[in-house]
Amino acid sequence: MADGRIITVFAAKGGCGKTTVATNLATILYDRGAHRVCLLDLDLEFGDAAGMLGLRSERSMVDALPVVDQLTPETVASLMTSYLPGFDCLLAPTRPGDARLISASLVSRLLAVLPLVYDFVVVDTPSRFGPHVLAALDVADHQILVTTPERPALKNLRVTLDMLDLLPYDRTARSIVVNRFDARSALPAALLDELLRSPIAGHLPTWEGVPASINRGEPLAVAQPDHAVSLAFRQLAAALLASDGRCRRDPPPG
Ligand SMILES: Nc1ncnc2c1ncn2[C@@H]1O[C@H](COP(=O)(O)OP(=O)(O)OP(=O)(O)O)[C@@H](O)[C@H]1O
Ligand SMILES: [Mg+2]
Repeated sequence: MADGRIITVFAAKGGCGKTTVATNLATILYDRGAHRVCLLDLDLEFGDAAGMLGLRSERSMVDALPVVDQLTPETVASLMTSYLPGFDCLLAPTRPGDARLISASLVSRLLAVLPLVYDFVVVDTPSRFGPHVLAALDVADHQILVTTPERPALKNLRVTLDMLDLLPYDRTARSIVVNRFDARSALPAALLDELLRSPIAGHLPTWEGVPASINRGEPLAVAQPDHAVSLAFRQLAAALLASDGRCRRDPPPG
């Protein structure tokens, strides 16, 4: 049975590129079938992981409700939408109002089983803290925090880091990724460092091929593996593979 790693991708500002990062990272970690990968879409109201992969949502987390007390590798398999052999997606609900049926405890239960089946579970999130996102951050072996290089996004990332620092997470198992980086309009590196007071793990350049790949429903990392953005994704994935950092909460004493 796999002892998979959970990677939770979060940004406290909408549109920073969480889903772009999550889908591309999942694709690279899949490595043409070398690893079993699950992409979990926790953007329960407006999930668009399926759209970015060109998938039709036939099943979703809502299908977990009748089996909530019997979540096993076998029952979880029946909730998946297959993207490629060994690369499955557990999609967000599609019917209006269904998001509220998904509890944070269901998310925790799913995240307890998924690493038994998959080598990597990549979790895409909405851009606000809530019990579902916290459930996914709590059990994450690695937290990826995405920002763009503009003051409002950086300010939200600073607030996020302050919040995460209040929780017993391992700071070394956290990566900051600056997406839509453009040297011409970016803040000076020193100012970025001062705002974040944390090291930056990767810079993803702005490139018009990113929205084009989203519209084709094909992750850029596959469609154009040699482009600088794909290279930056691969470097991020390589750093994840090289680190064995775990940032799960310490078990309560006693
Ligand atoms: N490096 C990039 N270069 C150019 N465009 C990009 C880049 N990264 C993301 N985008 C564009 O930014 C938009 C938002 O990206 P994405 O949907 O991944 O963000 P998100 O954080 O998941 O948004 P939401 O908060 O709505 O879930 C998309 O239209 C995408 O095409
Ligand atoms: Mg998104």
